[in-house]
Amino acid sequence: MAKERGRPRTSTVLWEGVQHLLADAAGDAAEDAAEDAAGDAGELTVVDLGGGTGGLAVRVAALGHRVVVVDPSPDALAALQRRTVEAGLSGRVRAVQGDATDLSSVLAPASADVLLCHGVLEVVDDPAAALRAAREVLRPGGRLSLLVAQWPATVLARVLAGHLAQALHVLSDDTRRWSSSDPVRRRFDQASATALAEAAGFSVTAVEGTRTFSDVVPAVSTESDDDLALLRELEAVAARSPELRVLAGHLHLHARR
Ligand SMILES: C[S@@+](CC[C@H](N)C(=O)[O-])C[C@H]1O[C@@H](n2cnc3c(N)ncnc32)[C@H](O)[C@@H]1O
Repeated sequence: MAKERGRPRTSTVLWEGVQHLLADAAGDAAEDAAEDAAGDAGELTVVDLGGGTGGLAVRVAALGHRVVVVDPSPDALAALQRRTVEAGLSGRVRAVQGDATDLSSVLAPASADVLLCHGVLEVVDDPAAALRAAREVLRPGGRLSLLVAQWPATVLARVLAGHLAQALHVLSDDTRRWSSSDPVRRRFDQASATALAEAAGFSVTAVEGTRTFSDVVPAVSTESDDDLALLRELEAVAARSPELRVLAGHLHLHARR
């Protein structure tokens, strides 16, 4: 987690979850390599769909993997390229301008070991089509890391901010937006995200809640290093708690093709 005052911006729980998923995929690749007596089992091909400016892609590349970031935004891809050069990782990260629904025109089928899809189903026109396209790009047995915004946390956040009509709007709206000016197009919960992944042909193997408390804790409560450490501990416990998962701002689904 980045060292910062006030509310932490990055989630240790999410990064640890991504590393576990990569380790699982590397384990699969090692088994395949042993069977084939070929290939470099440690280095994975990772696609970061809607990877934006590449904050996650660079961290994954720094672990020794090859990452392809697919995003429709030229500005985001330009920022990604600057970031990878600064990190000395430009040989490991490839930027591709493309869209979730036409992934097959920019990437070969079954070419990726892992696909990251973080904060993307909330913004695309057709989330089901995006996940079907993601599945095509993954090799059989490949892993999907799916991060989606969860709506009950938004109800709580709107209530805590005193926006009671907006909280009620989330409860009655099919897409779980707090009004027509909500910048997020839709939100999910565990049942709807799991159903969407399964309908696209994935098996969901784990679900973790992230940012259960970080977005609602008063900034003044996390000004000291001791307080930040306590918040991280709370987040780690909440991530594994089925009872607290419903409060999480985001859900991280681990799934397998
Ligand atoms: C909320 S940002 C998430 C960025 C990054 N994945 C992260 O977790 O920080 C959404 C990203 O999806 C990208 N995006 C928007 N429409 C898309 C589409 N149709 N296909 C793929 N990516 C899209 C945006 O350009 C943006 O980079």
